[in-house]
Amino acid sequence: MKFKKALITGITGQDGSYLAEFLLKKKYIVHGIKRKSSSFNTSRIDHIYDNKSYKNKFYLHYGDLLDPNSLTDLINKIKPDEIYNLAAQSHVGVSFQLPNYTTQVNSLGTLNLLHAIYDCGLESKTKFYQASTSELYGEIQESRQSEKTSFYPKSPYATSKLFAYWITKNYRESYKIFASNGILFNHESPRRGETFVTRKITMGISKIIYGLDKCLYLGNIYSLRDWGHARDYVEMCWKVLQYKKPDDFVIATEKQYSVKYFVDECFKYLRIKIKWYGNGLKEYAKIVSFDYKKYPFLKKNMIIIRISRKYFRPNEVNNLIGNASKAKKLLKWKPKTNIYQLIKEMMDADLEYTRKSQIKYKL
Ligand code: NAP
Ligand code: GDD
Repeated sequence: MKFKKALITGITGQDGSYLAEFLLKKKYIVHGIKRKSSSFNTSRIDHIYDNKSYKNKFYLHYGDLLDPNSLTDLINKIKPDEIYNLAAQSHVGVSFQLPNYTTQVNSLGTLNLLHAIYDCGLESKTKFYQASTSELYGEIQESRQSEKTSFYPKSPYATSKLFAYWITKNYRESYKIFASNGILFNHESPRRGETFVTRKITMGISKIIYGLDKCLYLGNIYSLRDWGHARDYVEMCWKVLQYKKPDDFVIATEKQYSVKYFVDECFKYLRIKIKWYGNGLKEYAKIVSFDYKKYPFLKKNMIIIRISRKYFRPNEVNNLIGNASKAKKLLKWKPKTNIYQLIKEMMDADLEYTRKSQIKYKL
């Protein structure tokens, strides 16, 4: 039996790790590109690498989206059936501080990959998935954003992803490469990077509960997002490439909540009562009541959340909610995880992680 070969860029990231697991279960041979870093960057995929049943099925290679030679060499050697381009400087806030670098990685990096397929003469063999984003909608032009909604990017990150979106379409039309965009709305998990807001909240609360921190500082808590689970969304990346023709698809839960609601629901799940006071930069939340035996490090009236100017962006995307009708109809998309299940999974994982690190810290 001939197994399909997939190449994943960004395999060490949140989505890369879930996608690798998903494709291995589907009997793919999975190759991943990891970049050189001065410390270990494989914690999200070590369990796959160490799994004996994936011997000869899972390979890691050094490479970088900014090094076209590395990409051409790998693609030529592997001759993948599918490439998933998940690698990116993916933090919107950071992109304001690293606009040039973000553009190089996200825009030129995508072009480098697409051109490597062309250079290797694999236009009719290798399918290409581009990790496009709801950030493209930025200043929204329609109340629910679909594949037909106009884009209005509001950050260097979003603008760099706009180039990547269009170059993917250009290579589809010019060279007949099966190249598709998944326009994914926010998706989270216990493997989410710790500087993205949901994980920052679940980690921050866990640290306070174990006495390792006192207060969590946030930015725009009135921002509205459509949050799904990364595990569900990587299945859709795969489905986008299994569709009968290359195309672009919005993947979203079609439900929207504020950052403040996410915070409130985390505390509700933990049965800790909090109350909000003030407004603007002076808004804060205090602990009202909790189980003293369960949470010995908490104190009544302790200020647990504050707002900091530091976490606001120069240009805010305040409101995103997807219209995923096309994916629902053509790809049979149905979100599996709601926000309450997501919060439970993330809170449980971070409480356990923090409990273990607290024990280590005490030793
Ligand atoms: P993530 O956790 O930040 O992972 C990004 C990955 O890209 C990491 O593996 C990182 O490597 C790698 N990378 C960064 N620069 C690179 C370079 N120059 N060359 C090669 N690899 C590089 O992101 P994610 O949340 O998994 O998201 C995956 C993709 O989907 C990204 O393109 C993101 O922009 C897009 N997206 C994400 C969401 C979301 O809500 N998560 C929504 C829409 C679109 P290191 O581990 O070494 O840093
Ligand atoms: N990161 C962060 N930290 N965001 C905060 C904070 C904070 O302390 N306080 C409030 N926010 C707000 C941000 O201003 C934003 O409006 C919202 O919370 C979500 O921020 P992030 O979790 O950083 O995600 P994002 O929406 O900016 O970008 C993510 O989703 C995009 C898809 O729409 C990233 O994963 C992008 O790569 C992805 O394309």
